[in-house]
Amino acid sequence: MSLQRKTLVAGNWKMNGNAKLLAQFVEYFSASRKRCETVLCVPSLLTLNAVSASEKCHWLVGGQDVSAEENGAHTGDLSAQMLVEAGCQFVIIGHSERRADHGESNQLIARKAEQALAAGLTPIVCVGESLETRNEGSEEAFVEAQLSAVFERLSAQQLSDIVIAYEPIWAIGTGVTASPEQAQAMHRFIRQRVAQQSQSVAKSIRLLYGGSVKPANAEMLFSQEDIDGGLIGGASLDPKEFEAICLAASE
Ligand code: PGA
Repeated sequence: MSLQRKTLVAGNWKMNGNAKLLAQFVEYFSASRKRCETVLCVPSLLTLNAVSASEKCHWLVGGQDVSAEENGAHTGDLSAQMLVEAGCQFVIIGHSERRADHGESNQLIARKAEQALAAGLTPIVCVGESLETRNEGSEEAFVEAQLSAVFERLSAQQLSDIVIAYEPIWAIGTGVTASPEQAQAMHRFIRQRVAQQSQSVAKSIRLLYGGSVKPANAEMLFSQEDIDGGLIGGASLDPKEFEAICLAASE
């Protein structure tokens, strides 16, 4: 965490939860203490419910994916403009589950980031290696390729409007978290890579860690110099746990 960057915690409900769970969150978060910038990325059918409670709950709302196209014949997809009209301010892009389940390439993800930015959304661009890649020692080269595809398409101005989430695939939903040292090392690497595009953006861009973040490990992770918050999956489905993580990021 750095004093000049505002910490951010985003919850990614994935394909979980329902209106009843959201109502529990509303009750819990409307009484919550002041905390860091908090984003809730609910399944898209719950977006309007989450947005209507956002003022009282002090959270912002994000989508979990967006189309790389502006509009047109793309059955089942949502455009960036639709997310904006529903009240979203953020959108997760390139989550490893979308890369795996839907074969999303680095190039497609770069185009999605462009669409999101053009509509005024803040993309949370996800990167991260598999266990196999880490065991081979090529995690930095892998993440670098994921980043480069996005950076190639963005100006420094656009780059300053994105958030990057480092989520090692081996830590997602597994209960195995990257150690604070492992996470910090990769975050530093990512910030250095951003610095090659723009020194000033490297200082301001927010880098989140994701992968089995829990109340018990959040503080250690968020206290690392280049970690500015988290992207939370499993623990974002429990209001108490999610609030505790948000508060850990606020300290
Ligand atoms: P997890 O998921 O917190 O359940 O590991 C993180 C994510 O996929 O964003």
